[in-house]
Amino acid sequence: MEPFEMRCIECGKAHDMQKPAYACTSCGNLLEVRMDLAAARERASKSDMRKRPISVWKYREFIPVAKGSKIFSLSEGGTPLLRCDSLAEELGIKKLWIKFDGTNPTGSFKDRGMTVGISKAKELGIGTVTCASTGNTSASLAAYAGLASLKCVVLIPEGKVALGKLAQAVMHGALVVSVKGNFDQSLDMVMRSSEKLGMYVLNSVNPFRIEGQKTAAYEVCDQLGGVSPQYLYIPVGNGGNSAAYWKGFEEYESLGLATGHPIIRGIQARGSAPIAHMFQKGTNNLVPVKDPDTVATAIRIGNPANWKKTVRAIRKSGGSATTVTDEEILRAQRMMAQHEGVFAEPAGAAALAGLMKDLEQEGVDRSAEVVCVATGHGLKDPDTAISQTVKPKVIEARVEALEELLRGGRS
Ligand code: F0G
Repeated sequence: MEPFEMRCIECGKAHDMQKPAYACTSCGNLLEVRMDLAAARERASKSDMRKRPISVWKYREFIPVAKGSKIFSLSEGGTPLLRCDSLAEELGIKKLWIKFDGTNPTGSFKDRGMTVGISKAKELGIGTVTCASTGNTSASLAAYAGLASLKCVVLIPEGKVALGKLAQAVMHGALVVSVKGNFDQSLDMVMRSSEKLGMYVLNSVNPFRIEGQKTAAYEVCDQLGGVSPQYLYIPVGNGGNSAAYWKGFEEYESLGLATGHPIIRGIQARGSAPIAHMFQKGTNNLVPVKDPDTVATAIRIGNPANWKKTVRAIRKSGGSATTVTDEEILRAQRMMAQHEGVFAEPAGAAALAGLMKDLEQEGVDRSAEVVCVATGHGLKDPDTAISQTVKPKVIEARVEALEELLRGGRS
């Protein structure tokens, strides 16, 4: 086998990695990159990988970008795995960590995939890149497209993208197109028009995006000293990141670089939960949600493009998917912020909300090692944060007024 191959997830048909492709030309299912593990192990053993600081490109040997190709990087990955003792005590569990991927350069995990996807796009000689997005993908794509001097067109659902994300896409110089419809409709438009319009798609249907995102799982294992956690809680929208994490854990274990792999618990917002519904009903077919809705706009998705990949990944891990309400998400968001100093956007807090719900229902071993992925930064969505917090107290510009306030008097 070649060091890397691109194959259909369903029929296994090989596709040329040096041509833009997302779906199988025979059966229409998504494509994935497969790595020759023996050759990868050999490459890694001959490199100084172990000495490199953690980051996406630490794992260069496991990423399918050609050797001489230019890498377009903003120094992504290497995000903290925070031990959360205060929160763990509050919830009554032993070992809890948050993988805070909101600390990536543009504030979400998307940068892991985008540094790889954009480097690959340049390798392929692409001129224009595109995506549909609930916000973070567009912010990240716009930044990396700017870095690589590529034209960038992003489609976003009108009125449903958090302010910070919109500001980023505009600031980085993308052509931002607001679609009178939802994310699913926008992605459908992108997929149907990209070839005709000569645009390379960098949604998570792009297999190279997943190859960048899988490094988060490698990092978690490295940060835990070469072992996998027992549980990984992760928000699920379009299903790319959960599939990428599983790919990373599986590969790292097979490469002999980590012991074990986690049970994956995919968390969806109740109003946008077609994958969780599949697990609840035990079915093998996705029934899309027509009008998805949730305060966690990043995962406001009713027809996840990666559903097959992620359902397989979650099942293989021995895990499942479930739902949380908007109230549960917002409560988890406040708890992370107030106990651990981690300000995540609502979608980024969904994983913890899922863990809290499982704990209430005694659905998880309290002595297990649990990692929750906080996928995006809270500053992305200031409106939601401000709307649920107490308004600042207003006082006169006098010390006495402050004293009075702090003593519990009138402000
Ligand atoms: N968390 C955040 C903060 C996200 O932005 C997304 C997806 C997810 C979780 C879900 O990840 O789609 O791979 O299952 N955001 C996409 C976007 C859809 O357009 O920014 P997924």
